[in-house]
Amino acid sequence: MGLIIKNANVLNAAGELELKDITIEDNRVTGIIDAGSEVEVSGEVIDAAGKLVAPGFIDMHVHLREPGFEHKETIATGTRSAAKGGYTTIACMPNTRPVIDTPETIKLVLDKAATEGIVRVLPYAAITKNELGRELTDFAALKEAGAIGFTDDGVGVQNAQMMKDAMTLAASMNMPVIAHCEDESLVVGAAVNEGTFAKKHGLKGIPNESEAIHVGRDCLLAEATGVHYHVCHVSTEQSIRLIRQAKQFGVKVTAEVCPHHLLLSEEDIPSMDANWKMNPPLRSPRDVQACIEALEDGTIDMIVTDHAPHSQEEKAKGMQLAPFGIVGFETAFPLLYTKFVATGKWTLDFLVKRMTADPARVFGLETGKLEIGAIADITIVDLESVQGVNPETFLSKGRNTPFTDWQLKGWPVATIVDGKLVWSAE
Ligand code: DOR
Ligand code: ZN
Ligand code: ZN
Repeated sequence: MGLIIKNANVLNAAGELELKDITIEDNRVTGIIDAGSEVEVSGEVIDAAGKLVAPGFIDMHVHLREPGFEHKETIATGTRSAAKGGYTTIACMPNTRPVIDTPETIKLVLDKAATEGIVRVLPYAAITKNELGRELTDFAALKEAGAIGFTDDGVGVQNAQMMKDAMTLAASMNMPVIAHCEDESLVVGAAVNEGTFAKKHGLKGIPNESEAIHVGRDCLLAEATGVHYHVCHVSTEQSIRLIRQAKQFGVKVTAEVCPHHLLLSEEDIPSMDANWKMNPPLRSPRDVQACIEALEDGTIDMIVTDHAPHSQEEKAKGMQLAPFGIVGFETAFPLLYTKFVATGKWTLDFLVKRMTADPARVFGLETGKLEIGAIADITIVDLESVQGVNPETFLSKGRNTPFTDWQLKGWPVATIVDGKLVWSAE
């Protein structure tokens, strides 16, 4: 049994839209032919007339909260939320309870993903036991169990020797180190950026240097160890400067940025509402501009959401006390399409590549492209559909978004993983 997607607008090698029919057999794309041709595949037909048909989106930075924080999200709800956002592959962070720092926990996540998940889930393992920064985890056993990289996301690795040891070991087994960059000595008690909002409300701020100090340190350690070093959620001009320079020197460094750091600054925060609280925080307009330019010039390689669901009770504690994080899956593409593509600033091809081919290239994934022979992970998007963001409709358990009521264009309507329709709007 196959699947045929008719009248698909697909991006060709030149980045232009072409009208095609796509045939899928088992889990592979078997044909991309001129629309309306006679095809001999039996099976379900999806009419994608007027819709974009793209490779399934890939999100290399997400929090699924399982095990341990099932009141915030589960692998079942998180993967449904991802599918609704057009994502077919997501890489989950290990700051769960217990922390994903043993082969058993990796296995638990993979087993749950296989039985309860509807998109591909790639687990990261912690760099240090319990993410405490004191003792390295068993990298070899974690890799063997299926971890795709090492990260203590949620916190930075404070000790430089610990990070160097981690990088040396990871490099020896050809595994990447992924870093949440934050010097804790500079951020004690801070909830928002050190800038205009903090000043106005008399709050302690998170300075740009707290991120950039780790980025600079780690670029030097990556140069010394030869590891593939990936910087999480870049948010400052200074980090970008350091990444750009390291790339020029041939250091194997890659980086990601989140939609909120491309679209919002501290000046947009309307109140002490914790739906505007995330780490790294919303920075200055100048930092936002630097992030946009860095993505445009290739200093930043990809877009990730840092999907970080929290319960409404937790977020109701207010700006100072609520946990950091916002949900991301179900708004990422429409936000970026509306603000950057529909406005003519980026091409559609540029945006799609940063969410598909580029994360696949950086992390050596087989998915991320739509061509004959490729794995049939596919996203269908209605580029004309306009809707307001309504958290009540999210498939995520999280409702924590600053984008409520934003009128956005370009909503995913169907998601195919491994040749099977896993979610559709109808
Ligand atoms: O905003 C964030 N939320 N930043 C992090 O580093 C952690 C994440 C979470 O786990 O909620
Ligand atoms: Zn982080
Ligand atoms: Zn994160």
